[in-house]
Amino acid sequence: MAADFDTIVNLAKRRGFVFQASEIYGGLRSAYDYGPLGVEMLRNVKQQWWRSMVQMRDDIVGLDSAIIQSTDVWKASGHLSSFSDPLVECRTCNARHRLDKLKDPDTCPTCGNSGTFTEPKDFNLMFKTHMGPVESEDNVVYLRPETAQGIFTNFENVRRTARMKVPFGIAQIGKSFRNEITPGQFVFRTREFDQMEMEYFCRPEDADAVFSEWVDSRHSWYIDLGMTPENLRMRQHEPEELAHYAAAAVDVEYMFSWGWDELEGIANRTDFDLKAHMERSGQDLSYFDPETNERFVPYVIEPAAGATRTTFAFLIDAYAEEKVNGESRVVLKLDPRLAPVKVAVLPLSKKPDLVETTHKVASMLRERWHIDVDVTQSIGKRYRRQDEIGTPYCVTVDFDSLDDNQVTVRNRDTMSQDRIPLDNLLTYLTPLLPS
Ligand code: GAP
Repeated sequence: MAADFDTIVNLAKRRGFVFQASEIYGGLRSAYDYGPLGVEMLRNVKQQWWRSMVQMRDDIVGLDSAIIQSTDVWKASGHLSSFSDPLVECRTCNARHRLDKLKDPDTCPTCGNSGTFTEPKDFNLMFKTHMGPVESEDNVVYLRPETAQGIFTNFENVRRTARMKVPFGIAQIGKSFRNEITPGQFVFRTREFDQMEMEYFCRPEDADAVFSEWVDSRHSWYIDLGMTPENLRMRQHEPEELAHYAAAAVDVEYMFSWGWDELEGIANRTDFDLKAHMERSGQDLSYFDPETNERFVPYVIEPAAGATRTTFAFLIDAYAEEKVNGESRVVLKLDPRLAPVKVAVLPLSKKPDLVETTHKVASMLRERWHIDVDVTQSIGKRYRRQDEIGTPYCVTVDFDSLDDNQVTVRNRDTMSQDRIPLDNLLTYLTPLLPS
């Protein structure tokens, strides 16, 4: 069972991970800004995803496609006709709800009245706007609801220019937008969010095996980054749950305080998207295999994760409260690769000599990692502050450091301390703080 929801939300706000968007104007519901620590952690999550998907593989390349695409893209993909949720409105209190998410489909959770809902209507989730200075129907464009379509429309560009051979993948991280009927649970469901998606193109007959490989590989990614195995499960979709493009799907789910909920979907999208774009654009997106002399439209296996949602889950999962010598401490046991600050450098006192040495040590470490320097309050309080944001190592510069050129390195999890010569500090920390 994961940490209490309110505790994490309070920590996130208090320590500058996440702020309400437009807070000084009363806040914009369902939109959030990532503060100094949040932006580091979110970037680290994306970086680990990119590293495992692109950097460490020779069969996957990256892409950064536009948020606004031709409306033909959404016509072809089926998003204009089918990307909708069933919306009901309560006739008593006018609250709007997503029918498929209601615990009791007959009772309004806002006012508690039964039998007051209007007939459900399909509400399209895409944000609509206009391109250029004229607001006419001819200029309507949409903000992308998934990054995937930019990958499909660039399939041939990427294949040709990067000289890729099927099977290969194209990965992309970027913003997506959905006009969710009921956003909520802090950053879990928002109207603007970051996705990390990869489309892996393969031979149709290999799709089932490739799908299983990606299900295993994505499960391992979360575990390798320290997520508690009991808080993670892989759930196969029932046929009636499948998206309009999918032949099979497995969700990576996390045990949130409100129950199991989705972090990522892995889907077999078949040749649905490439064929749909071939038909609408008139362009040939089939693949000629020079080894077998066959031409075919590849199938696509897609692991699609939410970066903001996943960051939230890592934050929840890392949260711990411990008793140390009769005192309680809050500690984020984040994998060092995800921790927003890797090392805090702390002078034992504000004495100018110590502070000067502290800054020298910090500039040396800054070449490699994100570093914090904290000079105020007692050393115990400063350790607790760093524990609470998950800083894996604190380096303390004390009075002896000025004579012996050594510093004390404290480990966040064990709280053990090692005395290390300054000349060896980088060599000591490097294996402990991998990229
Ligand atoms: N291209 C496939 C696709 O977009 P999805 O399951 O709708 O599939 C993938 O989205 C992931 O994007 C989800 O598993 C979730 O992590 C994230 N996501 C979707 N809607 C979101 C929202 N409103 N707020 C935050 N994250 C969201």
